Order: sequence, then C-alpha cells, then structure tokens
Amino acid sequence: MAFAPFSFSQTEVEKKVEATLSRMTQAEKLQMLAGKTDFSTWDVPRLNVPSMKMADGPVGIRNYGPSTAYPAAVCLAATWNPDLATRFGTSIGRDGRARGVHMWLAPGLNMARSPQNGRNAEYLGEDPILSSVMCVNIVRGVQSEGVIATLKHFVANDHENDRVKDSSDVDERTLHEIYLKSFEEAVEKGGAWAIMTGYNRVNGVHVSESPDLLQGVIQKQWGFKGFTVSDWGGTYSDNVAAAGLDLEMPKPRRMSPEVITDLLSSGKVSQEAIDDKVRRMLRAIYAMGFDQRVQEDDSIPKDDPTSDATALDIAREGVVLLKNAHHILPINPDKLKKIVIVGPEALDPYTGIGGSSYLTHIADKVTVYSALRSMLPAGVEIEAIPSPPAADVADHAWDEVAKADLVIGCFGYPPHLESEGHDRTFELPWDELATLKRVLSLNKKTIVVVSSGGAFEAASWIGKAAALFHNWFPGQNGNAAVAEMIVGKTNPSGKLPISFPKELKGTYYEDAYPPKDNHVAYTEGLFMGYRWFDANRVRPLFRFGFGLSYTSFNMSDFTLGMGPSPSRVTVTVDVQNIGRRDGAEVIQVYVGLPSIGEPRPKRELKGFQKVFLKAGETKRVLISLGDELRQWDVNSHSWMLGKGTYQIYAGTSSEDLPFHGRIELSDSAESI
Ligand code: BGC
Repeated sequence: MAFAPFSFSQTEVEKKVEATLSRMTQAEKLQMLAGKTDFSTWDVPRLNVPSMKMADGPVGIRNYGPSTAYPAAVCLAATWNPDLATRFGTSIGRDGRARGVHMWLAPGLNMARSPQNGRNAEYLGEDPILSSVMCVNIVRGVQSEGVIATLKHFVANDHENDRVKDSSDVDERTLHEIYLKSFEEAVEKGGAWAIMTGYNRVNGVHVSESPDLLQGVIQKQWGFKGFTVSDWGGTYSDNVAAAGLDLEMPKPRRMSPEVITDLLSSGKVSQEAIDDKVRRMLRAIYAMGFDQRVQEDDSIPKDDPTSDATALDIAREGVVLLKNAHHILPINPDKLKKIVIVGPEALDPYTGIGGSSYLTHIADKVTVYSALRSMLPAGVEIEAIPSPPAADVADHAWDEVAKADLVIGCFGYPPHLESEGHDRTFELPWDELATLKRVLSLNKKTIVVVSSGGAFEAASWIGKAAALFHNWFPGQNGNAAVAEMIVGKTNPSGKLPISFPKELKGTYYEDAYPPKDNHVAYTEGLFMGYRWFDANRVRPLFRFGFGLSYTSFNMSDFTLGMGPSPSRVTVTVDVQNIGRRDGAEVIQVYVGLPSIGEPRPKRELKGFQKVFLKAGETKRVLISLGDELRQWDVNSHSWMLGKGTYQIYAGTSSEDLPFHGRIELSDSAESI
C-alpha cells in the first residue's frame, strides 16, 4: 500500500522506521515522548528526524499569526456536503503548509449530546454517521496536502465544566455506536495519523491512562498505526506510558526521561512499549514525508484566496434557515426604504468561540451590515445600531427599530460565554435576550440571526420573529452568505446536524447535564438527540435534519433494493425541484435496525445525499447502505449485522419521512 498522495510504500516506511529506531540512543528515544516546545515535538538532527510543528484547529490554522477563519465545524456539518468537507480539509492542509505546520490539532469529533457544551461549535453535530462521513473527508483532505490530522478529544469529552474531573459513564454499545464511531471511521477510512486524548474520564478512568481505550480499542480493535497525544496538560499520573499514550504535551511531566527510566527499572513499562511509541511517531513522520521536504511551502499565500472562497462556500451551504413566515425572505429591495440592523453583532460579529480554536482572521470580518450594504442599491438606507444602545441615543434607536421597513437582529453567544473551558446556558445571554425581545415587540418584520454552536432557547420568542437564521459561528466571511440569503442571491440549503428542543425540562437533556458528583451518566444510551424525541413522541422546536429553502422539492419513485456486500441495501428516489429557484435538498435515509438484544431507536440516520437541482430539474438519487447497518454486539465485542427486518425510511429530515419500506436480511444475506 502506498501512502497517498506520497509515493512511499508501507514496506519502505517500516524499513526506515526500524533502521532509525536501531540507531537511536535511549536518551533520544525518551526525549521524543514529550513536547519540545508548547507546539512541537523533538527532532533528532543526527538521524534526520524532523520536529513536528503543531497548530490548533478546528476552524483554521492557529498559533502562527492571522489565518483564514472558517465557519465553525458544526456549520460544515450543517452543509451535509461531503465534497465541501474534502475541500475544507484541503484548504486547511494548504494553510498549514503555508506556515510550515506538520500537525493540525483537529478535527473535533465529540458529539453534541447537550446544547450547553461550550465546544459544540468545534464538533460535527449529534449524529455519528453524519459526523463520520464528514470527518473522513476532512482527514483525507488535510493529509493529502501533507499535514497530519489529529482526531480529538478522544472520547466522550462532551462538556467543558470540570472536564478534568468528570467521568462520562457510558455503556459499551453506546460508546461504540455513538461516541467512538467517528474516531473509528477517521482512523480506518480516513487514515488519520494522530489521536488526542481528552481531559476527561470515561467510566471512572482518565482516557490518557486507559489501557482499555488506548490499547484495547485504538490499537487492537482498529489496528491504528499512528500515535496518540495527550491534550495539553491532560496527563494525571505516571500510568499514562504503560496505558498506551505515545506523546505527552506540551512538556514532559508524566513521561519525562526520569519518570520513564524509573518505570523501566521497576518493570512497570517495557522497553518494547517505549520503542513502540517512538516507532509510531517515526512511522507517521516517514509516511507523511516530513524528512523529505521543507514543510513550509512559500508558494502558498498566507491569505490564500482559495481558502477564503472555501470558507464562504461552507457558510453558503451551512447557514440554516429555520423560519420564514409569509415568505418574508428573500427580500424585495424595491419595496424597502430603510433597514435597521440591531444587536451586539451589528458591527462586531462573533466569528468563532473562545479558547484554543479562536482564530485571528486574516481578512476583515464581514458583518451582515457590510455585506448587505455592498449588495443593496444605494437608495435603500441601512442603519446599524449596536446594542444595547447607549443611553443618550436609546430613544432614537428604539424609534428607528420600530419604524424600519425591515429589522435584522444579530444575536448570539460572545466568545467569552461560548468557549472551551466552560459551558453556556441554553437561553441566550440574558442581556441579549432582553434586547431581542424588545426588538421583536417593536417590529414584526424582524429577521433574527443567531451565532451559536448548538441549540438555544427560542420557543419563548420565535413566534414573534418573522425569520430565523442559524449562522453558527460563521468565520471571517460567512455573514456574506447570510446577506446573500437575505437578498436571494444564495438559496439556503443547510440542514440542522442537531436537534433543537423547545425546552430542556422533561427531556433527556435534563438528566444529561449537569453532572452529579463528577459523574455524567449517559443513561439515555443510544437515545440521544433525535432518537430520544422519536422514541418519546416529543416534538422538538426544530427537528434534526431540518432546514428551509426558497424552493420546494418533490420526491417520487422510491425503490428499495438489495445488493452484494458491501452495499447491502440501496435506496433510490427521484427528486424534483418544483419551484422557480435553483436549490439543493438533502435526501436522508433512516433505518430501524432489528434489535439483537437491548431496545434500539426507532430509526437512525444511515445515509444521505445532497442533491443540487436547477428550477424544474429532476435527478434520481441513489444511496447505498453497507457497513452503516452494523450494530455493536456486546457479547462478541464487535460489529455485527443483525438478522431480521430493517425498516427503511427516506425523506428530508428526521421527521419528514414520506417513504417507508422493509427489507429482510436473513442468514443468507451475507451472500446476497
Ligand atoms: C485544548 C485542545 C488544544 C490544546 C492546545 C487544549 O486546551 O483542549 O483542543 O488542541 O489545548 O492548544
């Protein structure tokens, strides 16, 4: 096997690794087990082993000055477009190469289990299949440019408050099917070379010192050949080395040469285990060709227009339109004299969340205001009123809001409230909520734009809003996409990668968060997100997979077929754009799997396809399901294909599923 796109064969790489390993002194090996600087590994110049320079993600290349700030990862998930994930990965790889980066500390693959998680914006939503498909392409894209992708934060690191102390207590089946799934796919199908352990504990044991997870799951079950790296400072005892952690960051503490030497002499860790850690890093270095080139590629501009275009296209497909009463959107500028843009983001948008993912954008931040100004004729007056308005101008501001032909309210969670390190409230920040409610009471023609990584409370005010956009955190230029949607230049096609509850009370979210006594019981099991709403017949405010368009689609001729492995079930359906605008729809296939023991969700997303259709156009969409149909068997501790009836549903969201059919997979199914 050759390591694409590099020309080295696996045998060649392994030979080089063993040759270097045999020439390394013990001191050189031990030094490699922890960081050289806060964001690099040790080199061994005498043997031409380079240091690896790291950069934070997941919304760009951080740490080396301004860089393209892409929309939040969850916005990419909301595009439901795997090709955009590949493009994003490739752009990130190029941004990394422009700065000499070897290792990108992303993508983030934790699950949006509760809206309060401060880092939901860094992840790919609540569904393991959507997240897997997207992350495999991100990883392939990044690594195809010669930069390592580091999957984080392994695993079930699904909230931020007390992240170091808390234990996520998850049963084996749920852990594999929901929380480990994207990591597994990114390793097996994406070929990721690095995995970062989370700060958290899983079932009582810190992940960085869990032999079950590091050796049992990552190394043995998945056959991972790359290396694991601790989160920064996320090593809590000298057990980490024996447990299977390969690299400690940012500096030697639990894996310092002294500690390791002691562990070796007391027999707590073997020389073979230490060699294996070095071997894993060397393998990644050689497979990626880091010893063969200068990593910094100065032919790539630091403010790469290609990256800027990728960022904008992600927003164009990822911003979700959740409400559009009386088709207020897109607007007709001929009928408008004055637009007022109000809210804390009117002139200073929240482009990303706080913490290690926050990027200093390389291009000027685009506001809905600046973008609209450039799109609308000069005859339409636009006034931006940052809120809350200063006391001396408040009366005038509220008057203007009340009188405007159209109001656009830009609200959300500022980076100090939605951030790594702590969680946030389900309700919008109280002062913003107060302003928003006042605006809505003054003017019925208000379009609300919210920046947030997850769901937020909207049931108490949505009735009064004319329209609602979820722009996630749109990065440096994503608000241009919002403006394009407002004027109708872009037809919204984003779909929610999360469920949007009306309230948390009475739902599984109430038990899911906050933790009690530093334990989070994942008692909902597989019934997380939309699976819970389905099973309990509760309607969320907005359903998983939902998003509005300015056109309409019609589906017909739904056919189910069975195919030879690996594509066992095929779903085909005709999709027609029956409106007057070009647009895109996401066909989603949900499957009710036969239970092989414990109860299962009524249906789970197993396949999807985004289809772009010109006005009037029809396309036949084919979705094949193979491995996605497997479930985790706790008896054999492996994936298996259940025998029995598979209920297959197809439609355009987790609740809009007009097509339903059944397929039997029997013993002979293996050979069908
Ligand atoms: C974060 C990681 C990040 C690391 C390095 C940690 O605090 O959890 O996601 O990669 O810092 O900045």
